[in-house]
Amino acid sequence: MIVPAPPPGAKAPSITGVPFGTTRDGREAMLFTLVNAGGMRVDITNYGALIVRLLCRDRSGRLDDVVLGYDSLEAYLGDSQYFGALVGRFGNRIARGTFTLDGATFTLATNNKPNGIPCALHGGSVGFNKVLWDATPLLVGDAAGLRLHYVSADGEEGYPGRLEVTVHYWLTHGNELRVVYEAATDKATPVNLTQHSYFNLKGGGGGDILGHRVTINASRYTPVDAGLIPTGELASVAGTPFDFRTEHAVGERIGAPDRQLGIGNGYDHNWVLDRGGPGPVLAATVCEPTTGRLLEVWTDEPGVQFYSGNFLDGTNVGKGGHPYPFRGGLCMETQHFPDSPNHPAFPGTILRPGGKYETSTVFRFSAR
Ligand code: GLA
Repeated sequence: MIVPAPPPGAKAPSITGVPFGTTRDGREAMLFTLVNAGGMRVDITNYGALIVRLLCRDRSGRLDDVVLGYDSLEAYLGDSQYFGALVGRFGNRIARGTFTLDGATFTLATNNKPNGIPCALHGGSVGFNKVLWDATPLLVGDAAGLRLHYVSADGEEGYPGRLEVTVHYWLTHGNELRVVYEAATDKATPVNLTQHSYFNLKGGGGGDILGHRVTINASRYTPVDAGLIPTGELASVAGTPFDFRTEHAVGERIGAPDRQLGIGNGYDHNWVLDRGGPGPVLAATVCEPTTGRLLEVWTDEPGVQFYSGNFLDGTNVGKGGHPYPFRGGLCMETQHFPDSPNHPAFPGTILRPGGKYETSTVFRFSAR
């Protein structure tokens, strides 16, 4: 499917698409470019529903790419860092790759081993970030959009139920990227979808994110065991390096002698968002002081995984030939809490036949 290019200098939103490469099973992936009237741009491929580029303005109006990723589909096929990924069927970890539901025990593919302890991570070996989605470009009012649709078979990666998933990405006039997730199933199954983009608001994949200034609207977080699995406790952030209720640079306390930071080799934890009820809340802000770029993350989810790129080590060579260094990007993954299927006290993640999974997250960009 080729979508015609917008007229040069267009001041209206547009969406165009070009071939991006061929998957290992010989199918063609597309790369779609969404542009808003102000020139903000997001490139998304229907392989993995991945965000490949996101160009937004700094305080002087300069557009730069603020997400990590690769130039080619081939590089994404081999990626294990989840750059730009749409993650599912279950974002983050499930302990030992097993859970029981309605009396039956399910065994998932284990594809991750923090500190030598196996678990299922981000949907398994072939998660939603490794499949080809059906794509439909959309233009509605002043927003450019992309509808992505995927049917996950009953039993895929060990999960029960045929899950039909639709994700809409909308780039709005207000410099927001809205991600709207919907799913329905024919058998009870855990579902927890998230967006795993790594941001480096300096642009161009430059350097580490330790100078980025972060707030997280959360009085509690979920501490983890040695395998990065929540212990079940909702611990207060007060007096710890996990207190981002006021703005702190990522690097300010990341080296503090804290057991949780030691386990994660930095921040790799789920924060329990403070909210008065359901509906969207401002979960987190990220500001890069030299460019002034500001990211606000709004969500109706109960949690956010703030991951400071601790598994990056310079071996992933990204767009424009830039190697991504240790802590070269940060993720704000809005989500239900990791390992929820094994924690009945956590907000529920089980979708049942006849029910509808519906959630949305907004990434809003500005500069200050
Ligand atoms: C999430 C996890 C991290 C890591 C990344 C992907 O953020 O919590 O531990 O696995 O995904 O590398």
